[in-house]
Amino acid sequence: MQIIPARENATPHGWCTLEPVAICRDKLQKLPFKLTHSLAGNPLFQIDQLLAVAKYAKNVYFDAGNVSIDDRWGNIPVPNLPVEEVISRVENNGAWIILKEMEKISPEYAAVMDEFTAFVHGLYGEGADERFLKPEMLVIISSPGRLTPFHFDAEVNFLAQIIGEKHVWICDPSDRTVVTDEDIEKYYNQQNVGTYRKGVETHATSYVLQPGEAVHIPTHAAHWIKNGNGVSVSLSLNFEQPFGAYHDALRANWIMRKFGMRPLPAGRDARRDKLKSTLLKAGTRTLGPMLSKARTLIK
Ligand SMILES: [Fe+2]
Repeated sequence: MQIIPARENATPHGWCTLEPVAICRDKLQKLPFKLTHSLAGNPLFQIDQLLAVAKYAKNVYFDAGNVSIDDRWGNIPVPNLPVEEVISRVENNGAWIILKEMEKISPEYAAVMDEFTAFVHGLYGEGADERFLKPEMLVIISSPGRLTPFHFDAEVNFLAQIIGEKHVWICDPSDRTVVTDEDIEKYYNQQNVGTYRKGVETHATSYVLQPGEAVHIPTHAAHWIKNGNGVSVSLSLNFEQPFGAYHDALRANWIMRKFGMRPLPAGRDARRDKLKSTLLKAGTRTLGPMLSKARTLIK
């Protein structure tokens, strides 16, 4: 099939869907799709510049080591070094460095995020203001061959490649054999990011991202990523989703399972989700003061 770039959606940094806009609008938050941009080569995202601004990042995470697809977050060694040192050794140290909230560092970074937010809002159409909240830009700098293990996120994500090559495997977020209802419920109670199950590879669609390409990763879509042979710099452009009865139902279901119940998965029956949300809030209001009083008495 010939792919026709949806040029009518092009922006100053060239954000553009590969497939027609109407198709990507339907896929948004349901299925992955590729985009293109012109940020590769932009001085803001070159290694020297990132080395210079890393200390201003509001929030930084890094680790380094050999990682496999089923590794758990938090189990990967964290080097006892300043972030600048880890970045300067990135060609050889197996590192994965995230500079978070880059849009807060300077107006130049904010402008990139603002433009992309406007692009996503245009793609979604009316009501986007209420669906795509708290835009955040993360810069990810990582070593040749470095793997990002199997996980899913609550945010809507767009992964944009700036330097180097990435292989990205993305599963359908509605595939409950890959990410189960219990996995999602656990996420909203314990920040668990999913459990790798053998054979999941056959459920994924793979993408190769070259500089100038990006891919949309919907909320709850399991994914894992492997760098090519060079250092990689990419952007993770995220939006939070509004928190509503669906999320309360996920949290309520987790509690119900603790009591041996088998609740209807959240998202299947809006009325039941609303009821669970009301009960959860009432329970929190009742139990909250009781627990704090108990804590005071125990002291
Ligand atoms: Fe992710």
